[in-house]
Amino acid sequence: MSAAGAGFAAYVVIGNPIAHSKSPAIHARFAADTAQDMHYAHLLAPLDGFAATVREFVAQGGRGANVTVPFKLEAYALASQLTSRAKAAGAVNTLTFEDGRILGDNTDGIGLVSDIVRNAGFDLAHKKILLLGAGGAARGVILPLLEGKPAQLVIANRTVAKAEELVQQFQPYCEQPGQPCILGACGFADVSQQFDLVINATSASLQAELPPLAGSIFSPATLAYDMMYGSQPTVFMQFAAAHGAQVRDGLGMLVEQAAEAFFVWRCVRPHTDAVFAALRAAL
Ligand code: ATR
Repeated sequence: MSAAGAGFAAYVVIGNPIAHSKSPAIHARFAADTAQDMHYAHLLAPLDGFAATVREFVAQGGRGANVTVPFKLEAYALASQLTSRAKAAGAVNTLTFEDGRILGDNTDGIGLVSDIVRNAGFDLAHKKILLLGAGGAARGVILPLLEGKPAQLVIANRTVAKAEELVQQFQPYCEQPGQPCILGACGFADVSQQFDLVINATSASLQAELPPLAGSIFSPATLAYDMMYGSQPTVFMQFAAAHGAQVRDGLGMLVEQAAEAFFVWRCVRPHTDAVFAALRAAL
């Protein structure tokens, strides 16, 4: 990386591997659209050298970093201060370097909810939501989903104990006055009722696998959302569509989490429609 000065990228996305990341293209477009003078680049960190890479970047004048696989937990540990949404997620995808402090945030969950609510026009209030998976991706979206005041959130996972742990962790958020939400945990085979929104936060789609679900949980009013995306619908989306559901992949979540990070750093909220359309066309 060049020293601070002309052309220095004060913002980066750190991961390993990282060359495939679309974040630099997304942020370049946001910066151009909002007339922000900011440069954003890829930064590869060695698998055993995340903290050292961050410190070197900060020493060179770095102001912010997005963090991706496999470093989101290390970023959480490295942060000197955490937002409440990062604490709830137990992971950090956005770092801000300010006055010698490292602020850790997580914009993944709000990115998902923005895509569902604003872009897909699906209101979460009073809805029955099924969340598939209980790993890092699932945990990161639970708080923003509950903030949408659904009637029910069921977390289904292959390893049921992990879903039960998440229910224990997030139960207090469901006991707020005003709008209690029913929070539950189960295995895939136990899911039999219909849901308004089904979110696939398992990594099964990466191996073209499908959580073993009954097709009867979907109806034409169901939105089936896969946090993965690609040029083709995932197996989960194909299964849900075959049972009448409306489907959506995670490309919009990618763009919206980036927009939220941009807002955290620059206090300017970029429009996301054109970036989303360009990314979709290029898939
Ligand atoms: P991530 O950060 O992507 O969430 P993770 O923390 O490793 O990754 O979690 C992966 C999630 O996908 C888990 O919920 C996992 O289920 P287990 O907790 O039982 O391991 C789920 N998962 C992975 N492969 C799966 C498959 N083939 N079918 C169903 N669930 C799967």
